[in-house]
This record gives sequence, C-alpha cells and structure tokens, in this order.
Amino acid sequence: MRTQVAIIGAGPAGLLLGQLLYEAGIDNIIFEQRSPDYVLGRIRAGVLEQVTVDLLAQAKADKRMLAEGLPHDGIELLFGGKRHRIDLHELTGGKRVMVYGQTEVTRDLMEARKRAGLLTVYEAQNVTPLEFGSERPRVRYEKDGQQHEISCDFIAGCDGFHGVCRASIPADSIRNYEKVYPFGWLGILADVPPVSHELIYAHTERGFALCSQRSATRSRYYLQVPLTDKVENWSDEAFWDELRLRLDPEARANLVTGASLEKSIAPLRSFVSEPMRFGRMFLAGDAAHIVPPTGAKGLNLAASDVGYLSRAFAEFYQQRSSEGIDRYSEVSLRRVWKAERFSWWMTSLMHRFPDSGDFDRKVQEAELDYLVHSRAGATSLAENYVGLPLN
Ligand code: FAD
Ligand code: DHB
Repeated sequence: MRTQVAIIGAGPAGLLLGQLLYEAGIDNIIFEQRSPDYVLGRIRAGVLEQVTVDLLAQAKADKRMLAEGLPHDGIELLFGGKRHRIDLHELTGGKRVMVYGQTEVTRDLMEARKRAGLLTVYEAQNVTPLEFGSERPRVRYEKDGQQHEISCDFIAGCDGFHGVCRASIPADSIRNYEKVYPFGWLGILADVPPVSHELIYAHTERGFALCSQRSATRSRYYLQVPLTDKVENWSDEAFWDELRLRLDPEARANLVTGASLEKSIAPLRSFVSEPMRFGRMFLAGDAAHIVPPTGAKGLNLAASDVGYLSRAFAEFYQQRSSEGIDRYSEVSLRRVWKAERFSWWMTSLMHRFPDSGDFDRKVQEAELDYLVHSRAGATSLAENYVGLPLN
C-alpha cells in the first residue's frame, strides 16, 4: 500500500493535518496506537485562538464549534483578593478567543475524516517510521498480529511528547531545550455552571487556580499542587474546599460544586526539540514541543504547526516547489519560541514557587499590579493570549 503523507498519531495535530491535506487534494493515512474512545477520553485544552478557529474552518470541521463554542472577549486576573479584567477584544483591536474543548475539536475532526472516507488505522502496534533520510520513507506497523508496511512521500510525526517519531531521530541530529516546573495542575471536570462567565486566572498565597468552562453547564477547574500529590488522595470535597480558599468572596459565593466527571494531575514542562524536520519526516505539535498550560497554547501550537506543514505540502504537490518544506522548521520554530516565552512568563507570574522568597513574591505582585494598570502591559498580555498571527 502507498500514500502521499503517512501521519503518525490521531490527536488534534494528526487529525487536523489529515483534513487540511484532504482539502488540498493530498492523500493521507493516519496510524494511531490507541482506540478512538481512548483518544476522546483525554480531557485537555479548552481555549482556541482565532488562527486555530480559521484552520478548523479550512478543514471544514467548524460547524459545531461555531454553534456551540463560547466566544470570550476577556479574561480575569485574580490577585490580592480582587479580580481585574483584561479586555482582550478592546486591547487587540477586535480579536477574541473561542472556548471549546479539545475533546470536541477531536470529535469534529474524526467525524470530518469519516465523512471524507479517509483511512485511520486505530490500535496500530509498534508503529515505526523507516528510511525517512531517503526519498522513499515507509511506515511499518502491526495490527491484529500481522505486520504491514506503507510506502509514502513524507511522514508527519504527530504522535505527541512520548511518541516514536522524535525518538527515532539520531541523537546527534537533534537538540532539546527543557525546563521542568516544581509543581503540577490538578484538574477537575464537573457538570456544574461556571463560577463566572469569563476565565479566572488566580494568583494566591495558597498557589495558582484556574476557573475555566466547557459550556453553561459544564466547568473545568485547576489547582496548582505539589508534584508529590497523588490524584487518589484528592477527594472531590477536598478539591472544592481548596478552590474556594483560592477565590475572591464573590466567586466563592457563586461556586457551585458537584461530582467530578474526570480528575487528573498534569506535570508542567517547557520543551522544544530542534529542528522539526529530518529528511522526509516532519514533527508537529507535542511531538516537537511542550508548553506549560498557563498560556493555553499547547493545542493552538499543534494547530499552527500543521497549518504551516499543510501549506508546505500543498506547495510541493501543486507547484513542485520544495521551498515551504525546506523552511517549515525555521518558520514553525519562530512561532513556537514566542509561545514558549509567553507560557513560561505566565507560569512564572501566576504560580507560587516553593523556593521563592519574600522578595520574589513582592516582584510578582508588582508585575501583576503593573499589568492591570498599564495599557502597554495589558496589551502585551492580550496580544499573546489571543495568539500571534501566522507568519
Ligand atoms: P497528542 O494530543 O498527544 O496526540 C498524539 C497522538 O499520537 C495520541 O493520540 C497518541 O495516542 C498517539 N501516539 C503516541 N505514540 C504513538 C505511536 N508510537 N504510534 C502511533 N500513535 C502514537 N494544553 C492547553 O492548552 N491547555 C490545557 O489545559 C492542557 N492540558 C493538558 C493536560 C495533559 C495531561 C496533557 C498531556 C496536555 C495538556 N495540554 C493542554 C496540551 C494539549 O493538550 C496538547 O498540546 C495537544 O494535545 C497536542 O496535540 P498533539 O496532536 O500534538 O498531541
Ligand atoms: C483551559 C486550560 C488552560 O491551560 C488554560 O490556560 C485555559 C483553559 C481549559 O482546560 O479550559
């Protein structure tokens, strides 16, 4: 069997790439090690930049998002016991973000792929990219005890942080940059109305908290917790009690609690692997980089990577030009590093660091105070939060 682009991984990066290529007339097959239900069971990101919304429109997978997603014009920063609104819409000349869960984005892309009749091999075992240094790469995998091989023109490594693609690259051809943070996020999903109609990012003496949402009746909340904490030791009651302590009096009074639908702890990490291309294999999304979630950039970066990559493949097939694929790594990394900077900065600003002293905390508070009282400061935050334009 043969295809033009073999995509490894059916997360948002792989699925969106598949639809963008299909719309450009480029044949592709996706290989995914898990089942569709497993992929849909992962509760992750919730905020989409306009760039991501536009790419979902280009992929013809935006209908439900436009009907059910929640456009947000602002966010709130809570510190010193008070909330301060950042007016994203006004500060960026009319831009906003869309609150719509990663699970729903994934479901919509899966549906679009099904409608287009494109092949996704789920529960593929031992997926291996082969010969990507040559003109004739292949992908080998096992399914139901049988080994198969597909030849292709290109391999797209969309297989996340723990995937096989980056791990297959010789160590002397790759450079990794990493920062690990000394805390994690405990997240909870519950069918209760959100505490406020906009997202609240809270900096408190007890640590960071985030109030997010999925709909008028479903909320997503996060608490900064020590890395040593185990999710089994956090009852729903304990979560709500701790969240209450990190909110302002009005939000505390508005908080509606209920049984959790999902509860998990995610470690926080900044990571970039350079370059993002090795011969005929291209890395995209979490396979190439990780951001701490404070800036809401992980899913959006996965989308912009595959936006660049699909454009590069379209140039290759339609205009016989290699310029786009030759520049992919450099162009993507410029955007990646700006999102890395913003995510690191938001994380440093909003969290309580175990080793920071009184001086560091005073500087954090001064910066927050500056941000909400300076148009220049607030504009910089807003411009990055809604997302920088594609180059
Ligand atoms: P993934 O979603 O990881 O998809 C990769 C796919 O490849 C998976 O389906 C995987 O099963 C498959 N795969 C892996 N290895 C193989 C293999 N060997 N063979 C075949 N298939 C393989 N971002 C935010 O902005 N906000 C958040 O709150 C947030 N929370 C997160 C919580 C957690 C626990 C994690 C892990 C991430 C979170 N993120 C968040 C980041 C965001 O979800 C990711 O940036 C986004 O999922 C990246 O999409 P992706 O398609 O690149 O990778
Ligand atoms: C969500 C997650 C984030 O990391 C963030 O910054 C905003 C929202 C969410 O899951 O809704």
